[in-house]
Amino acid sequence: MDEFIVITGGAGFIGSELVRRAAAAGLSVRIVDNLVNGKRENIEEVLSDKVQFVEADIRDLERMKTLLSGADRVFHLACLGVRHSIHSPRENHDVNATATLDLLKLSQAAGVRRFIYVSSSEIYGTAHQVPITEETPAYPHTVYGASKLAGDCYTRAYWDTYRFPTTVVRPFNSYGPRCHHEGDSGEVIPRFMLRALAGKPLIVFGDGRQTRDFMFVEETARWILQVGLMDDLVGQTVNLGSGKETPIGDLARMVLEITEKQNGQIQNEAPRPGDVLRLWADTSRLTSLVNFRSHIGLHEGLRKLLDWYRNSGRTPEELLSEEVIHNWKAPHRTPPFI
Ligand SMILES: NC(=O)c1ccc[n+]([C@@H]2O[C@H](COP(=O)([O-])OP(=O)(O)OC[C@H]3O[C@@H](n4cnc5c(N)ncnc54)[C@H](O)[C@@H]3O)[C@@H](O)[C@H]2O)c1
Repeated sequence: MDEFIVITGGAGFIGSELVRRAAAAGLSVRIVDNLVNGKRENIEEVLSDKVQFVEADIRDLERMKTLLSGADRVFHLACLGVRHSIHSPRENHDVNATATLDLLKLSQAAGVRRFIYVSSSEIYGTAHQVPITEETPAYPHTVYGASKLAGDCYTRAYWDTYRFPTTVVRPFNSYGPRCHHEGDSGEVIPRFMLRALAGKPLIVFGDGRQTRDFMFVEETARWILQVGLMDDLVGQTVNLGSGKETPIGDLARMVLEITEKQNGQIQNEAPRPGDVLRLWADTSRLTSLVNFRSHIGLHEGLRKLLDWYRNSGRTPEELLSEEVIHNWKAPHRTPPFI
């Protein structure tokens, strides 16, 4: 396919998988990432004549104007995460909400044909009706959820008001190669797995009955790309998840079993501020639109991740030295734009 796409946040966890998928589909790709949480090593092996990396901040509008020029499609993933929003709410808003609005405006002016916004299940807050459909009221708990919701609404508004062709994808929780264990980006699955491998207790915040809908990242990226390439999905908002909910306590036991540490400890701590209690995706809209199916179950995905860690060339102990247990509390770096 002879198209040129821009992927913001393309050096991050999901973004770098999306870059791989897009490159494999023959697209020309420009990755834009300021590497605040993304890593050069996530993308180094896929860079080529057709896959270019530019280190830039999406808040730098002059720079973004140039970088968007000539793009057919923009996949906008760059963002700061949920724990970051707890210690640095203003910066989180600036990147997730304000910069999304600016990118929409710049993309429209640059003649981009399609803008795909990667939103988040965090916009829903704790689900009171399950499974969560796209019509479930949005009631985010955190500034992250609220700022992602603003980006989600701005994206839809650009279609509704200006007929600038946009689509919103709302992924639920992803895991897999290149997921974050470190700092304020650290997520539950990599942290559980590395702790299990290192013989350390798995830390569950709250009673472990809170649920998430986990999807292997290869599937997340595959469907984001597919949705972004299908022009008849302009104006749509779609959930993207496995359609299965897993309590965090069950996940901890599953990780202990898969890593063969059945006697490992599970340690409960006080709940995290703003933690969403229930997430479970209804994906029937995506299924009816593009015949969506998730094939990689949680057991299989966890085994794949385990293999990836075993071949990563780094020990679990080494990786865990980058873990911040209470990673919503204090910034592990000085935010430049607060
Ligand atoms: N990981 C999940 O489970 C999950 C779930 C739902 C939605 N999402 C969404 O998917 C997208 C990707 O998430 P991820 O998990 O890969 O996160 P990530 O942190 O790995 O990726 C985000 C990338 O954006 C970059 N970035 C941050 N601020 C930037 C800025 N100002 N300028 C340029 N680049 C900047 C970071 O360096 C990072 O590489 C996000 O939009 C997120 O909201 C992720």
